[in-house]
Amino acid sequence: MKKIVLSGVKPTGHSHIGNYFGAIKPAIDFTANDENLCFYFIADYHALTTLKNKQEMIDFSYDIAITWLACGVDPQKVVFYRQSDIPEVFELYWILCNVTPKGLMNRAHAYKACVEKNEEAGLDRDAGVNMGLYNYPILMAADILLFNSDVVPVGLDQKQHVEIARDIATYFNNKYGKVFKLPDVEIQKETATLVGLDGRKMSKSYGNTIGLFTTAEQLQKSINKIVTDSRLPSEPKDTDCALFKLYKLFADKQQTAEFAEKLKAGLGWGEAKKQLFEVANKVISPMREKYFYYQNHKSEVDAILAEGAQRARTIARKTLDKVRKAIGV
Ligand code: TRP
Repeated sequence: MKKIVLSGVKPTGHSHIGNYFGAIKPAIDFTANDENLCFYFIADYHALTTLKNKQEMIDFSYDIAITWLACGVDPQKVVFYRQSDIPEVFELYWILCNVTPKGLMNRAHAYKACVEKNEEAGLDRDAGVNMGLYNYPILMAADILLFNSDVVPVGLDQKQHVEIARDIATYFNNKYGKVFKLPDVEIQKETATLVGLDGRKMSKSYGNTIGLFTTAEQLQKSINKIVTDSRLPSEPKDTDCALFKLYKLFADKQQTAEFAEKLKAGLGWGEAKKQLFEVANKVISPMREKYFYYQNHKSEVDAILAEGAQRARTIARKTLDKVRKAIGV
């Protein structure tokens, strides 16, 4: 029996290298282990809580699918699909709504944060909250439980959602008999080295990201914007800087050690940036080629996702049959 590893990713716009090293690469590393069967999907219906523009929904969904394919998701090995192609998710979602106490949803972080913000602003506590946001964790539980997931690798911000999925599974099992496996969360550690251009954590909200799939010229331009100090060429430099931390992500151990030596010996920042570009571009360029290939061959992406949906639905159907039987419909 293979271990079922499942994770969803929301289409939210172009990925940056922080997303690559923090989420995409670790997810792809899971697929290299033959004891795992990985289910990765585009969580487009989760994105709907915030993404209300039709064209963005279309473009971002393709972009995230293409990004993951370009980074190495092998659709032969991974069950790779779009959430909205799996109607079974939504059927299970409704069933799960009926074993989920409302109070559990009141405690979900995203909802609570909205309520707190509203209260601070003197507004109605539910101002601007729609039922999609409120029920978001139940939809996520459906994603997870439908495929008997053993492990759900997510960032720390999603930990509570996986715990809620466990709770919901437990409520269901207690009422109807053991149908669901309880999923374990696996937290993807924040790589301390995931720094942005300004040395803070790389994040869209700080505007300090380096895009993953830009042109090589744009990559070089971004790298040139990395903040360094005013030390002159020939002055020794230490490795506690954004530039070195980024270099380390792309380079192997030996290259990294050599680069540290060169910095100590006084390598100029301009030259250091060139060398960072070299290692980064070497990793990114084969992926970039695939990315632009799929952008120009979207029908191939459609076919991959359709095939993934078919595989996913075969499994989903079996779970749902059990669930329907258990509840008596
Ligand atoms: N909510 C997750 C996020 O914002 C995405 C997601 C949806 C997910 N369904 C999931 C992650 C199921 C893991 C398992 O990142």
